[in-house]
Amino acid sequence: MTSTSTTRVAFITGGAQGIGEAIALRLAQDGLDVAVFDMAGKEELLKGVTKKITDIGRKAIWIVGDVTSEESIKDAIARTVEELGSLDVMVANAGIRHAKPIIEMTPEEWNRVLAINATGIMLSYKHAGIQMIKQGHGGRIIGACSVSGKQGFPTAGAYSASKFAVRGLTHAFSQEMKPHNITVNAYAPGLIATPMLAVSIEAGRDKALAPTQKVAQPSVVADLVSYLALPNSYFINGQIISIDGGWIYQ
Ligand SMILES: NC(=O)c1ccc[n+]([C@@H]2O[C@H](COP(=O)([O-])OP(=O)(O)OC[C@H]3O[C@@H](n4cnc5c(N)ncnc54)[C@H](O)[C@@H]3O)[C@@H](O)[C@H]2O)c1
Repeated sequence: MTSTSTTRVAFITGGAQGIGEAIALRLAQDGLDVAVFDMAGKEELLKGVTKKITDIGRKAIWIVGDVTSEESIKDAIARTVEELGSLDVMVANAGIRHAKPIIEMTPEEWNRVLAINATGIMLSYKHAGIQMIKQGHGGRIIGACSVSGKQGFPTAGAYSASKFAVRGLTHAFSQEMKPHNITVNAYAPGLIATPMLAVSIEAGRDKALAPTQKVAQPSVVADLVSYLALPNSYFINGQIISIDGGWIYQ
């Protein structure tokens, strides 16, 4: 992977907090300029992340949007390219949990989880791929899977289904992107200390959170993404990499 400009540019969905924020800061430390993208209502958090990135010495922009909207993703990528010069690393990280047994789940709740966690990742992958093919110098596309994308857990039916979708999508898209020197991989974390995990634990109804499992900091995932974003990670492609303290073996 080579770049026409000297500085590579990363775009991170769900970049306002949690794993997305940790990835944004880590990629900035690695020397990339960064666009952080998140939902309306997260403006102050986005500004805070952007400030931390510029304090590191990299350029940063923040963009409000919704990963379930194709226009929103397309426009955000176009703005990133216009303001930062290119798109070299897409981190399709945004996701939600909705812990509920299937017999209590409404189709609307199910569709919302699938819209953000599966369709949102597909749209992020798609428009990153289009932009990177146009640039013609390869790229890195990295998505958020989960331990729940390798095994289903009670109360995590919709979440698991959405993360299994990310797994299939990542396998398929990596093969489509291979001729363009674009790799497509996903991280599959276990329990990571973020607002998402805190909300799930507070709700007290998330049976997927086995108490025997250890919890790691978001920086652990950011370090893996840092490697996957490197030009020299070109020989890892189509992989769903478990980062779960030794929980699921596949
Ligand atoms: N925390 C964990 O234990 C854990 C474990 C496995 C996988 N993951 C996955 O890692 C990713 C990040 O998780 P996290 O723990 O940092 O979660 P988080 O809830 O702390 O952060 C997720 C971010 O995504 C944003 N987001 C949600 N819907 C969006 C939308 N429609 N458009 C744009 N942004 C949207 C949220 O506003 C939020 O800022 C998720 O995909 C999650 O499923 C997390």
